[in-house]
Amino acid sequence: MAIDLGKMELLIALRARLEMDKSLGAAFLSDPSGALLKAAASFTARQTPAKSAPAPSPIRSQPTNFLQTDPAPSPSAIQEAASQPRPIFTRLVPKIDAPERPEKEAALSAMRQAAKECRNCGLCDTRHSVVWGEGDLDADVMFVGEAPGRDEDLAGRPFVGRSGKLLTGIIEKGMSLSRGRVYIANTIKCRPPGNRDPLAGEIRACFPYIEKQIEVISPRILVAVGTVAARLLLELPANVAAPRRRWLEYRGIPLRVVYHPSYLLRERAKLADPDARTDADRETWNDIKEIMAKLEELGPKEE
Ligand code: URA
Repeated sequence: MAIDLGKMELLIALRARLEMDKSLGAAFLSDPSGALLKAAASFTARQTPAKSAPAPSPIRSQPTNFLQTDPAPSPSAIQEAASQPRPIFTRLVPKIDAPERPEKEAALSAMRQAAKECRNCGLCDTRHSVVWGEGDLDADVMFVGEAPGRDEDLAGRPFVGRSGKLLTGIIEKGMSLSRGRVYIANTIKCRPPGNRDPLAGEIRACFPYIEKQIEVISPRILVAVGTVAARLLLELPANVAAPRRRWLEYRGIPLRVVYHPSYLLRERAKLADPDARTDADRETWNDIKEIMAKLEELGPKEE
């Protein structure tokens, strides 16, 4: 019997997925129309680089300036997009996007469990959830923010509110990286009530968690998002401004400080034109370009 290698590869990939997620596996098995299999095939084809292709650059394509507002799609483009079937398979994308790294997962699991039950500062009394962080454990770029806000506390995920949407736009449009390919975590894992600034004692109590995350993920580039993260990672006293527009270092890892997206939003809100962009936006865009240039210079991580 002739063996179709393409199909074999697809079946192996599907088997791995089935084992990872039994409930989705059930969906595959009860897929009489074969729609899921077709979606899987086209997705696998998109994800699998040609064997002889060189290692992919961490920068995927020409970035778009995230400061530019997207042109409104034409009515025919909207109609065409609406008529496209939305396969259930899209539910799998984030998982495939952030490949599983069992050894890194294991290295972090004890810390993550400890964080879930952590009572090392008073924030445990008011938190709804411990916002550990998310993304590719083998990411080239790791973003370290300040602390969860209300949306993050409720969702248990970092940067999902208004600031988060802006940060995601910066990553996806500005850097041409999917959010699942970077790692995002906060200096503080629990929400300070009323979104107040975290206290020095809270930052200290939480430091071992972010310290361990950075050590395990070992990114090529660290991005300190805002002053709180910058001060912590650079060990600066509270009254010193975070240094910007230059490369710094955290334990040998190149570090760049960028404005916190909530600051970018506050600056934009001061302008009469909601679509206008501020000096802080332009500075951020320059930082992003520098980060991408550094990534190119460093090249992809070795597997
Ligand atoms: N601001 C942060 O610094 N982190 C989040 O997760 C959300 C908002």
